[in-house]
Amino acid sequence: MTLWYSLILVVILTLVGLFGSQVNGLQPLFGIVLPYIALVTFIIGIIMKVLKWAKSPVPFRIPTTCGQAKSLPWIKNDNLESPSNTISVIGRMILEILFFRSLFRNTRMEIKEGSKVVYASTKFLWMAGMAFHYTFLVILLRHFRFFVDPTPQFVIWIQNLDGFFQVGLPIFYLTDMVFLAAVSYLLLRRLADSKIRYISLAGDYFPLLLLLAIGTTGFLMRHFTKVDLIGVKELTVGLLSLQPVIPDGIGSLFFLHLFLVSCLLAYFPFSKLMHMAGVFLSPTRNLANNNRMKQHVNPWNYDVKLHPYEEYEDEFREVMRGAGLPLDRDPEEEKK
Ligand code: HEM
Repeated sequence: MTLWYSLILVVILTLVGLFGSQVNGLQPLFGIVLPYIALVTFIIGIIMKVLKWAKSPVPFRIPTTCGQAKSLPWIKNDNLESPSNTISVIGRMILEILFFRSLFRNTRMEIKEGSKVVYASTKFLWMAGMAFHYTFLVILLRHFRFFVDPTPQFVIWIQNLDGFFQVGLPIFYLTDMVFLAAVSYLLLRRLADSKIRYISLAGDYFPLLLLLAIGTTGFLMRHFTKVDLIGVKELTVGLLSLQPVIPDGIGSLFFLHLFLVSCLLAYFPFSKLMHMAGVFLSPTRNLANNNRMKQHVNPWNYDVKLHPYEEYEDEFREVMRGAGLPLDRDPEEEKK
């Protein structure tokens, strides 16, 4: 059901973007107003969320570890799996952020032959995750040719590398294919496995479907329904320089593409996509496991009125002596 909700929503958004932008006089709404609202929501939303997370107290050291912590000099410690200092934490973070290391170590559990629990390595999710994120990055970097005038040299290099095989005209970009294939895999994976389908929410399907729609409209624009790229550049440069214009005859597919991107931007801060910022603020990742070297006092600890045994004995010494109970300190005995 959650899949259907998300699918229906993406279809509705697609229809709104496609037909709305063709209504006379509505192009400024789809080309200027909504993109600005989306961008402001995106920026302010992310800042607010990050500030909220940054303000949350982290009273305990809770790094996730799965290796030997640093302890006695003759016990070999594992710096990556149980980082004991900031350098090791940064090393582990870099591997996590650039190579999704914890996903690489992901395992699959199955019950075989009746009751045998079998664990196996599974790398497909990691491969698709890496493929999706890196192609997304390359596509965004390539899009700088619309945002910046003149087109930066690095964008031209990326473009040449991406179209290296020179197939088709305009040339097919490798990243477009891999991006669409990876997003499709991530979606099908949720549907194909009943266990994953069971735990999947609308918030898992919606971004994937939206990204698929954005990628597909972009692909269609490049290879099938051509749009006026000079006009597109005029519009985007105008938007970014705060002097928005709507050039004539850009083509409604572009407005649809831009509308879907605006939806993604506005949705971003309220969705699971915020892991982009959250990974940096995750206490299970960004803290060193130095619990054996330093005492970390919970800042929430309040002053507890203690009543140690010495005071207890002082208070009840006479009664205890009378009852024949042993005393740690007996001033009368000490006097003798
Ligand atoms: C989440 C952000 C975006 C994604 C994932 C995305 C994705 C894509 C993809 C996969 C293509 C196919 C061709 C190519 O890779 O160059 C494409 C083309 C295109 N995109 Fe985007 N896009 C995004 C944002 C934007 C924005 C903000 C604009 C402009 C305001 C834009 C304008 C275009 C245009 C004009 C094309 C056609 C390119 C051509 O004909 O060569 N896109 N997009």
